[in-house]
Amino acid sequence: MELETFMRLKTIFLAAFGVLIVLPALCVWSRPVSRRSIPAPSMAKFSAVGTIVRDKCMHCHTQDYALPFYANIPGIKGIVERDYIDGLRAMDLREEFGESVTSKPVSESTLAKMEWVMANETMPPAKFAAVHWDSRISNRQREIILDWVRTTRAACYATGTASRERSNEPVQPLPESVNIDIKKAALGRKLFEDTRLSVDNSISCASCHMLEKGGADARRFSEGVGKQLGNVNSPTVFNCVFNMRQFWDGRAADLREQAGGPPFNPIEMSSKDWEQIIVKLAADRALEEDFFEVYPPLPASDDNTGGWSGTNITDAIAEYEKSLITPNSRFDKWLRGDDKAISDKELEGYMRFKAYRCSSCHVGKSLGGQSFEYMDLKKDYFADRGDRLPSDEGLKAFTGRQEDLHKFKVPNLRNIELTAPYLHDGTAMTLDDAIKVMGVYLSGLEVTPGDRKLIASFLRTLTGEYQGEKVKGDVSPQDDTDSKADF
Ligand code: HEC
Ligand code: HEC
Ligand code: HEC
Repeated sequence: MELETFMRLKTIFLAAFGVLIVLPALCVWSRPVSRRSIPAPSMAKFSAVGTIVRDKCMHCHTQDYALPFYANIPGIKGIVERDYIDGLRAMDLREEFGESVTSKPVSESTLAKMEWVMANETMPPAKFAAVHWDSRISNRQREIILDWVRTTRAACYATGTASRERSNEPVQPLPESVNIDIKKAALGRKLFEDTRLSVDNSISCASCHMLEKGGADARRFSEGVGKQLGNVNSPTVFNCVFNMRQFWDGRAADLREQAGGPPFNPIEMSSKDWEQIIVKLAADRALEEDFFEVYPPLPASDDNTGGWSGTNITDAIAEYEKSLITPNSRFDKWLRGDDKAISDKELEGYMRFKAYRCSSCHVGKSLGGQSFEYMDLKKDYFADRGDRLPSDEGLKAFTGRQEDLHKFKVPNLRNIELTAPYLHDGTAMTLDDAIKVMGVYLSGLEVTPGDRKLIASFLRTLTGEYQGEKVKGDVSPQDDTDSKADF
């Protein structure tokens, strides 16, 4: 073998080894190991986290709790049970720390939540710790947990472009590019904008996800064929590639599966089947030529994956959507070390964003998309709003589990100033409205008017660039019209 070939093979092998073995291993190691397994010396710290969590936290954060003996005393039972129910709703540790641990790393959102309660010393709950001395967390244990958060975040979630001193922020910079197949993405863009995906050739994906409107449609509910109105707000398609699942209720596992939904949704594009769509698309010679270049037709066989098919159409659209990332926002520049990129007021807004717990859920590079949370976590949002919408079910509509009622995928907050109205029900008209609602129902901390302005000013630094140009859209009304006295 020639030296050059050998070196090339060696590089490929090392790269493959790195990607396939080292990265996942780092992520797996950084999760707590079961109390029963014997930790290797280098894993001691992580297994220490597993032990602390199992001893001090798990009984309130899993469903399979056994009530303590005193819980049967009338009057006490209710209080204890409430702790277990609220604890599980606030953070479910069954999958990540339970006996049946999987090899997935602890989620970015769980890390941020643990970091918040450790840094603010709110867990275990004070009332509980007052009567259970042994439940308290020592400073040493707190340090171990915070250190583990840092290590896991760096190993599994950091985008790697943040400056050293900002690399442990719960919010990470967006990557500046993603690997895509350019030809496939260009074809996907055509299909994304093609109205022939709808039954009467009137609506394309882009009708409800307009790139010049922040990737959404600036309406409370979207309008499908025949001006039919949906009952849930259209999320942005920008940065949706970073969502762990797609849709408010997570019913699509990925972008390909997602793209197979709207064409046949009776109130969106209302087509009958792929056949009906493909007949129209294939009649377009120029499009067919492009399509066959990416998906060459193969001789007929049982597993024919070439040529026209729903699978290939959604594959191309998904490839295009992968390209819809919006890096280089002012906040990203700040994360990368440019102190001047945001003002002092905006930086203060970010500090409040973290202090009000917003970053426990709006976490990571797209500030969301990493977990499902109860819209009525701290207070009954739906009772306060009054009416009912089919979309209010949330995750339950997909899983069928009662415990998932009112759980929604946390939306991402990139370019958020451009995508009003907000929330799944489109009821929040301004950022100020959304922040107010979040404080009351999700954080359980009422956000003062002054802090709402600061947080909104931070959120406005999250508008990035698409293909080198600032993302376009209608900037949501400023909320800072009233007096500056609040500051
Ligand atoms: C006695 C039961 C109990 C124990 C023990 C407990 N928690 Fe909690 N936890 C709760 C309850 C109840 C909530 C809901 C918020 C509240 O009521 O303060 C909660 C909420 C949380 C949250 C979500 C943030 C929030 O404040 O809503 C995190 C994170 C958390 N707990 C972590 C922990 C960790 C880490 C431990 C172990 C050190 C722990 N908890 C021990 C009951 C408990
Ligand atoms: C009639 C308007 C409409 C059309 C047409 C439409 N969408 Fe959507 N889109 C929505 C709405 C509304 C939602 C939220 C639905 C839900 O979560 O239940 C959504 C959700 C999504 C999501 C999930 C984003 C997230 O954060 O979860 C993606 C991705 C998406 N659409 C892409 C597409 C693609 C690709 C097409 C074309 C094949 C398309 N949409 C056609 C209105 C539309
Ligand atoms: C416990 C998790 C959690 C916390 C804490 C939280 N959010 Fe949210 N946020 C969500 C979820 C879930 C939604 C979507 C809810 C819905 O529409 O039903 C949301 C929606 C939003 C939206 C609207 C996004 C859109 O595209 O419609 C904004 C803005 C927002 N949150 C900002 C904040 C701010 C600011 C804070 C802190 C004050 C905060 N959130 C705290 C989970 C959370």
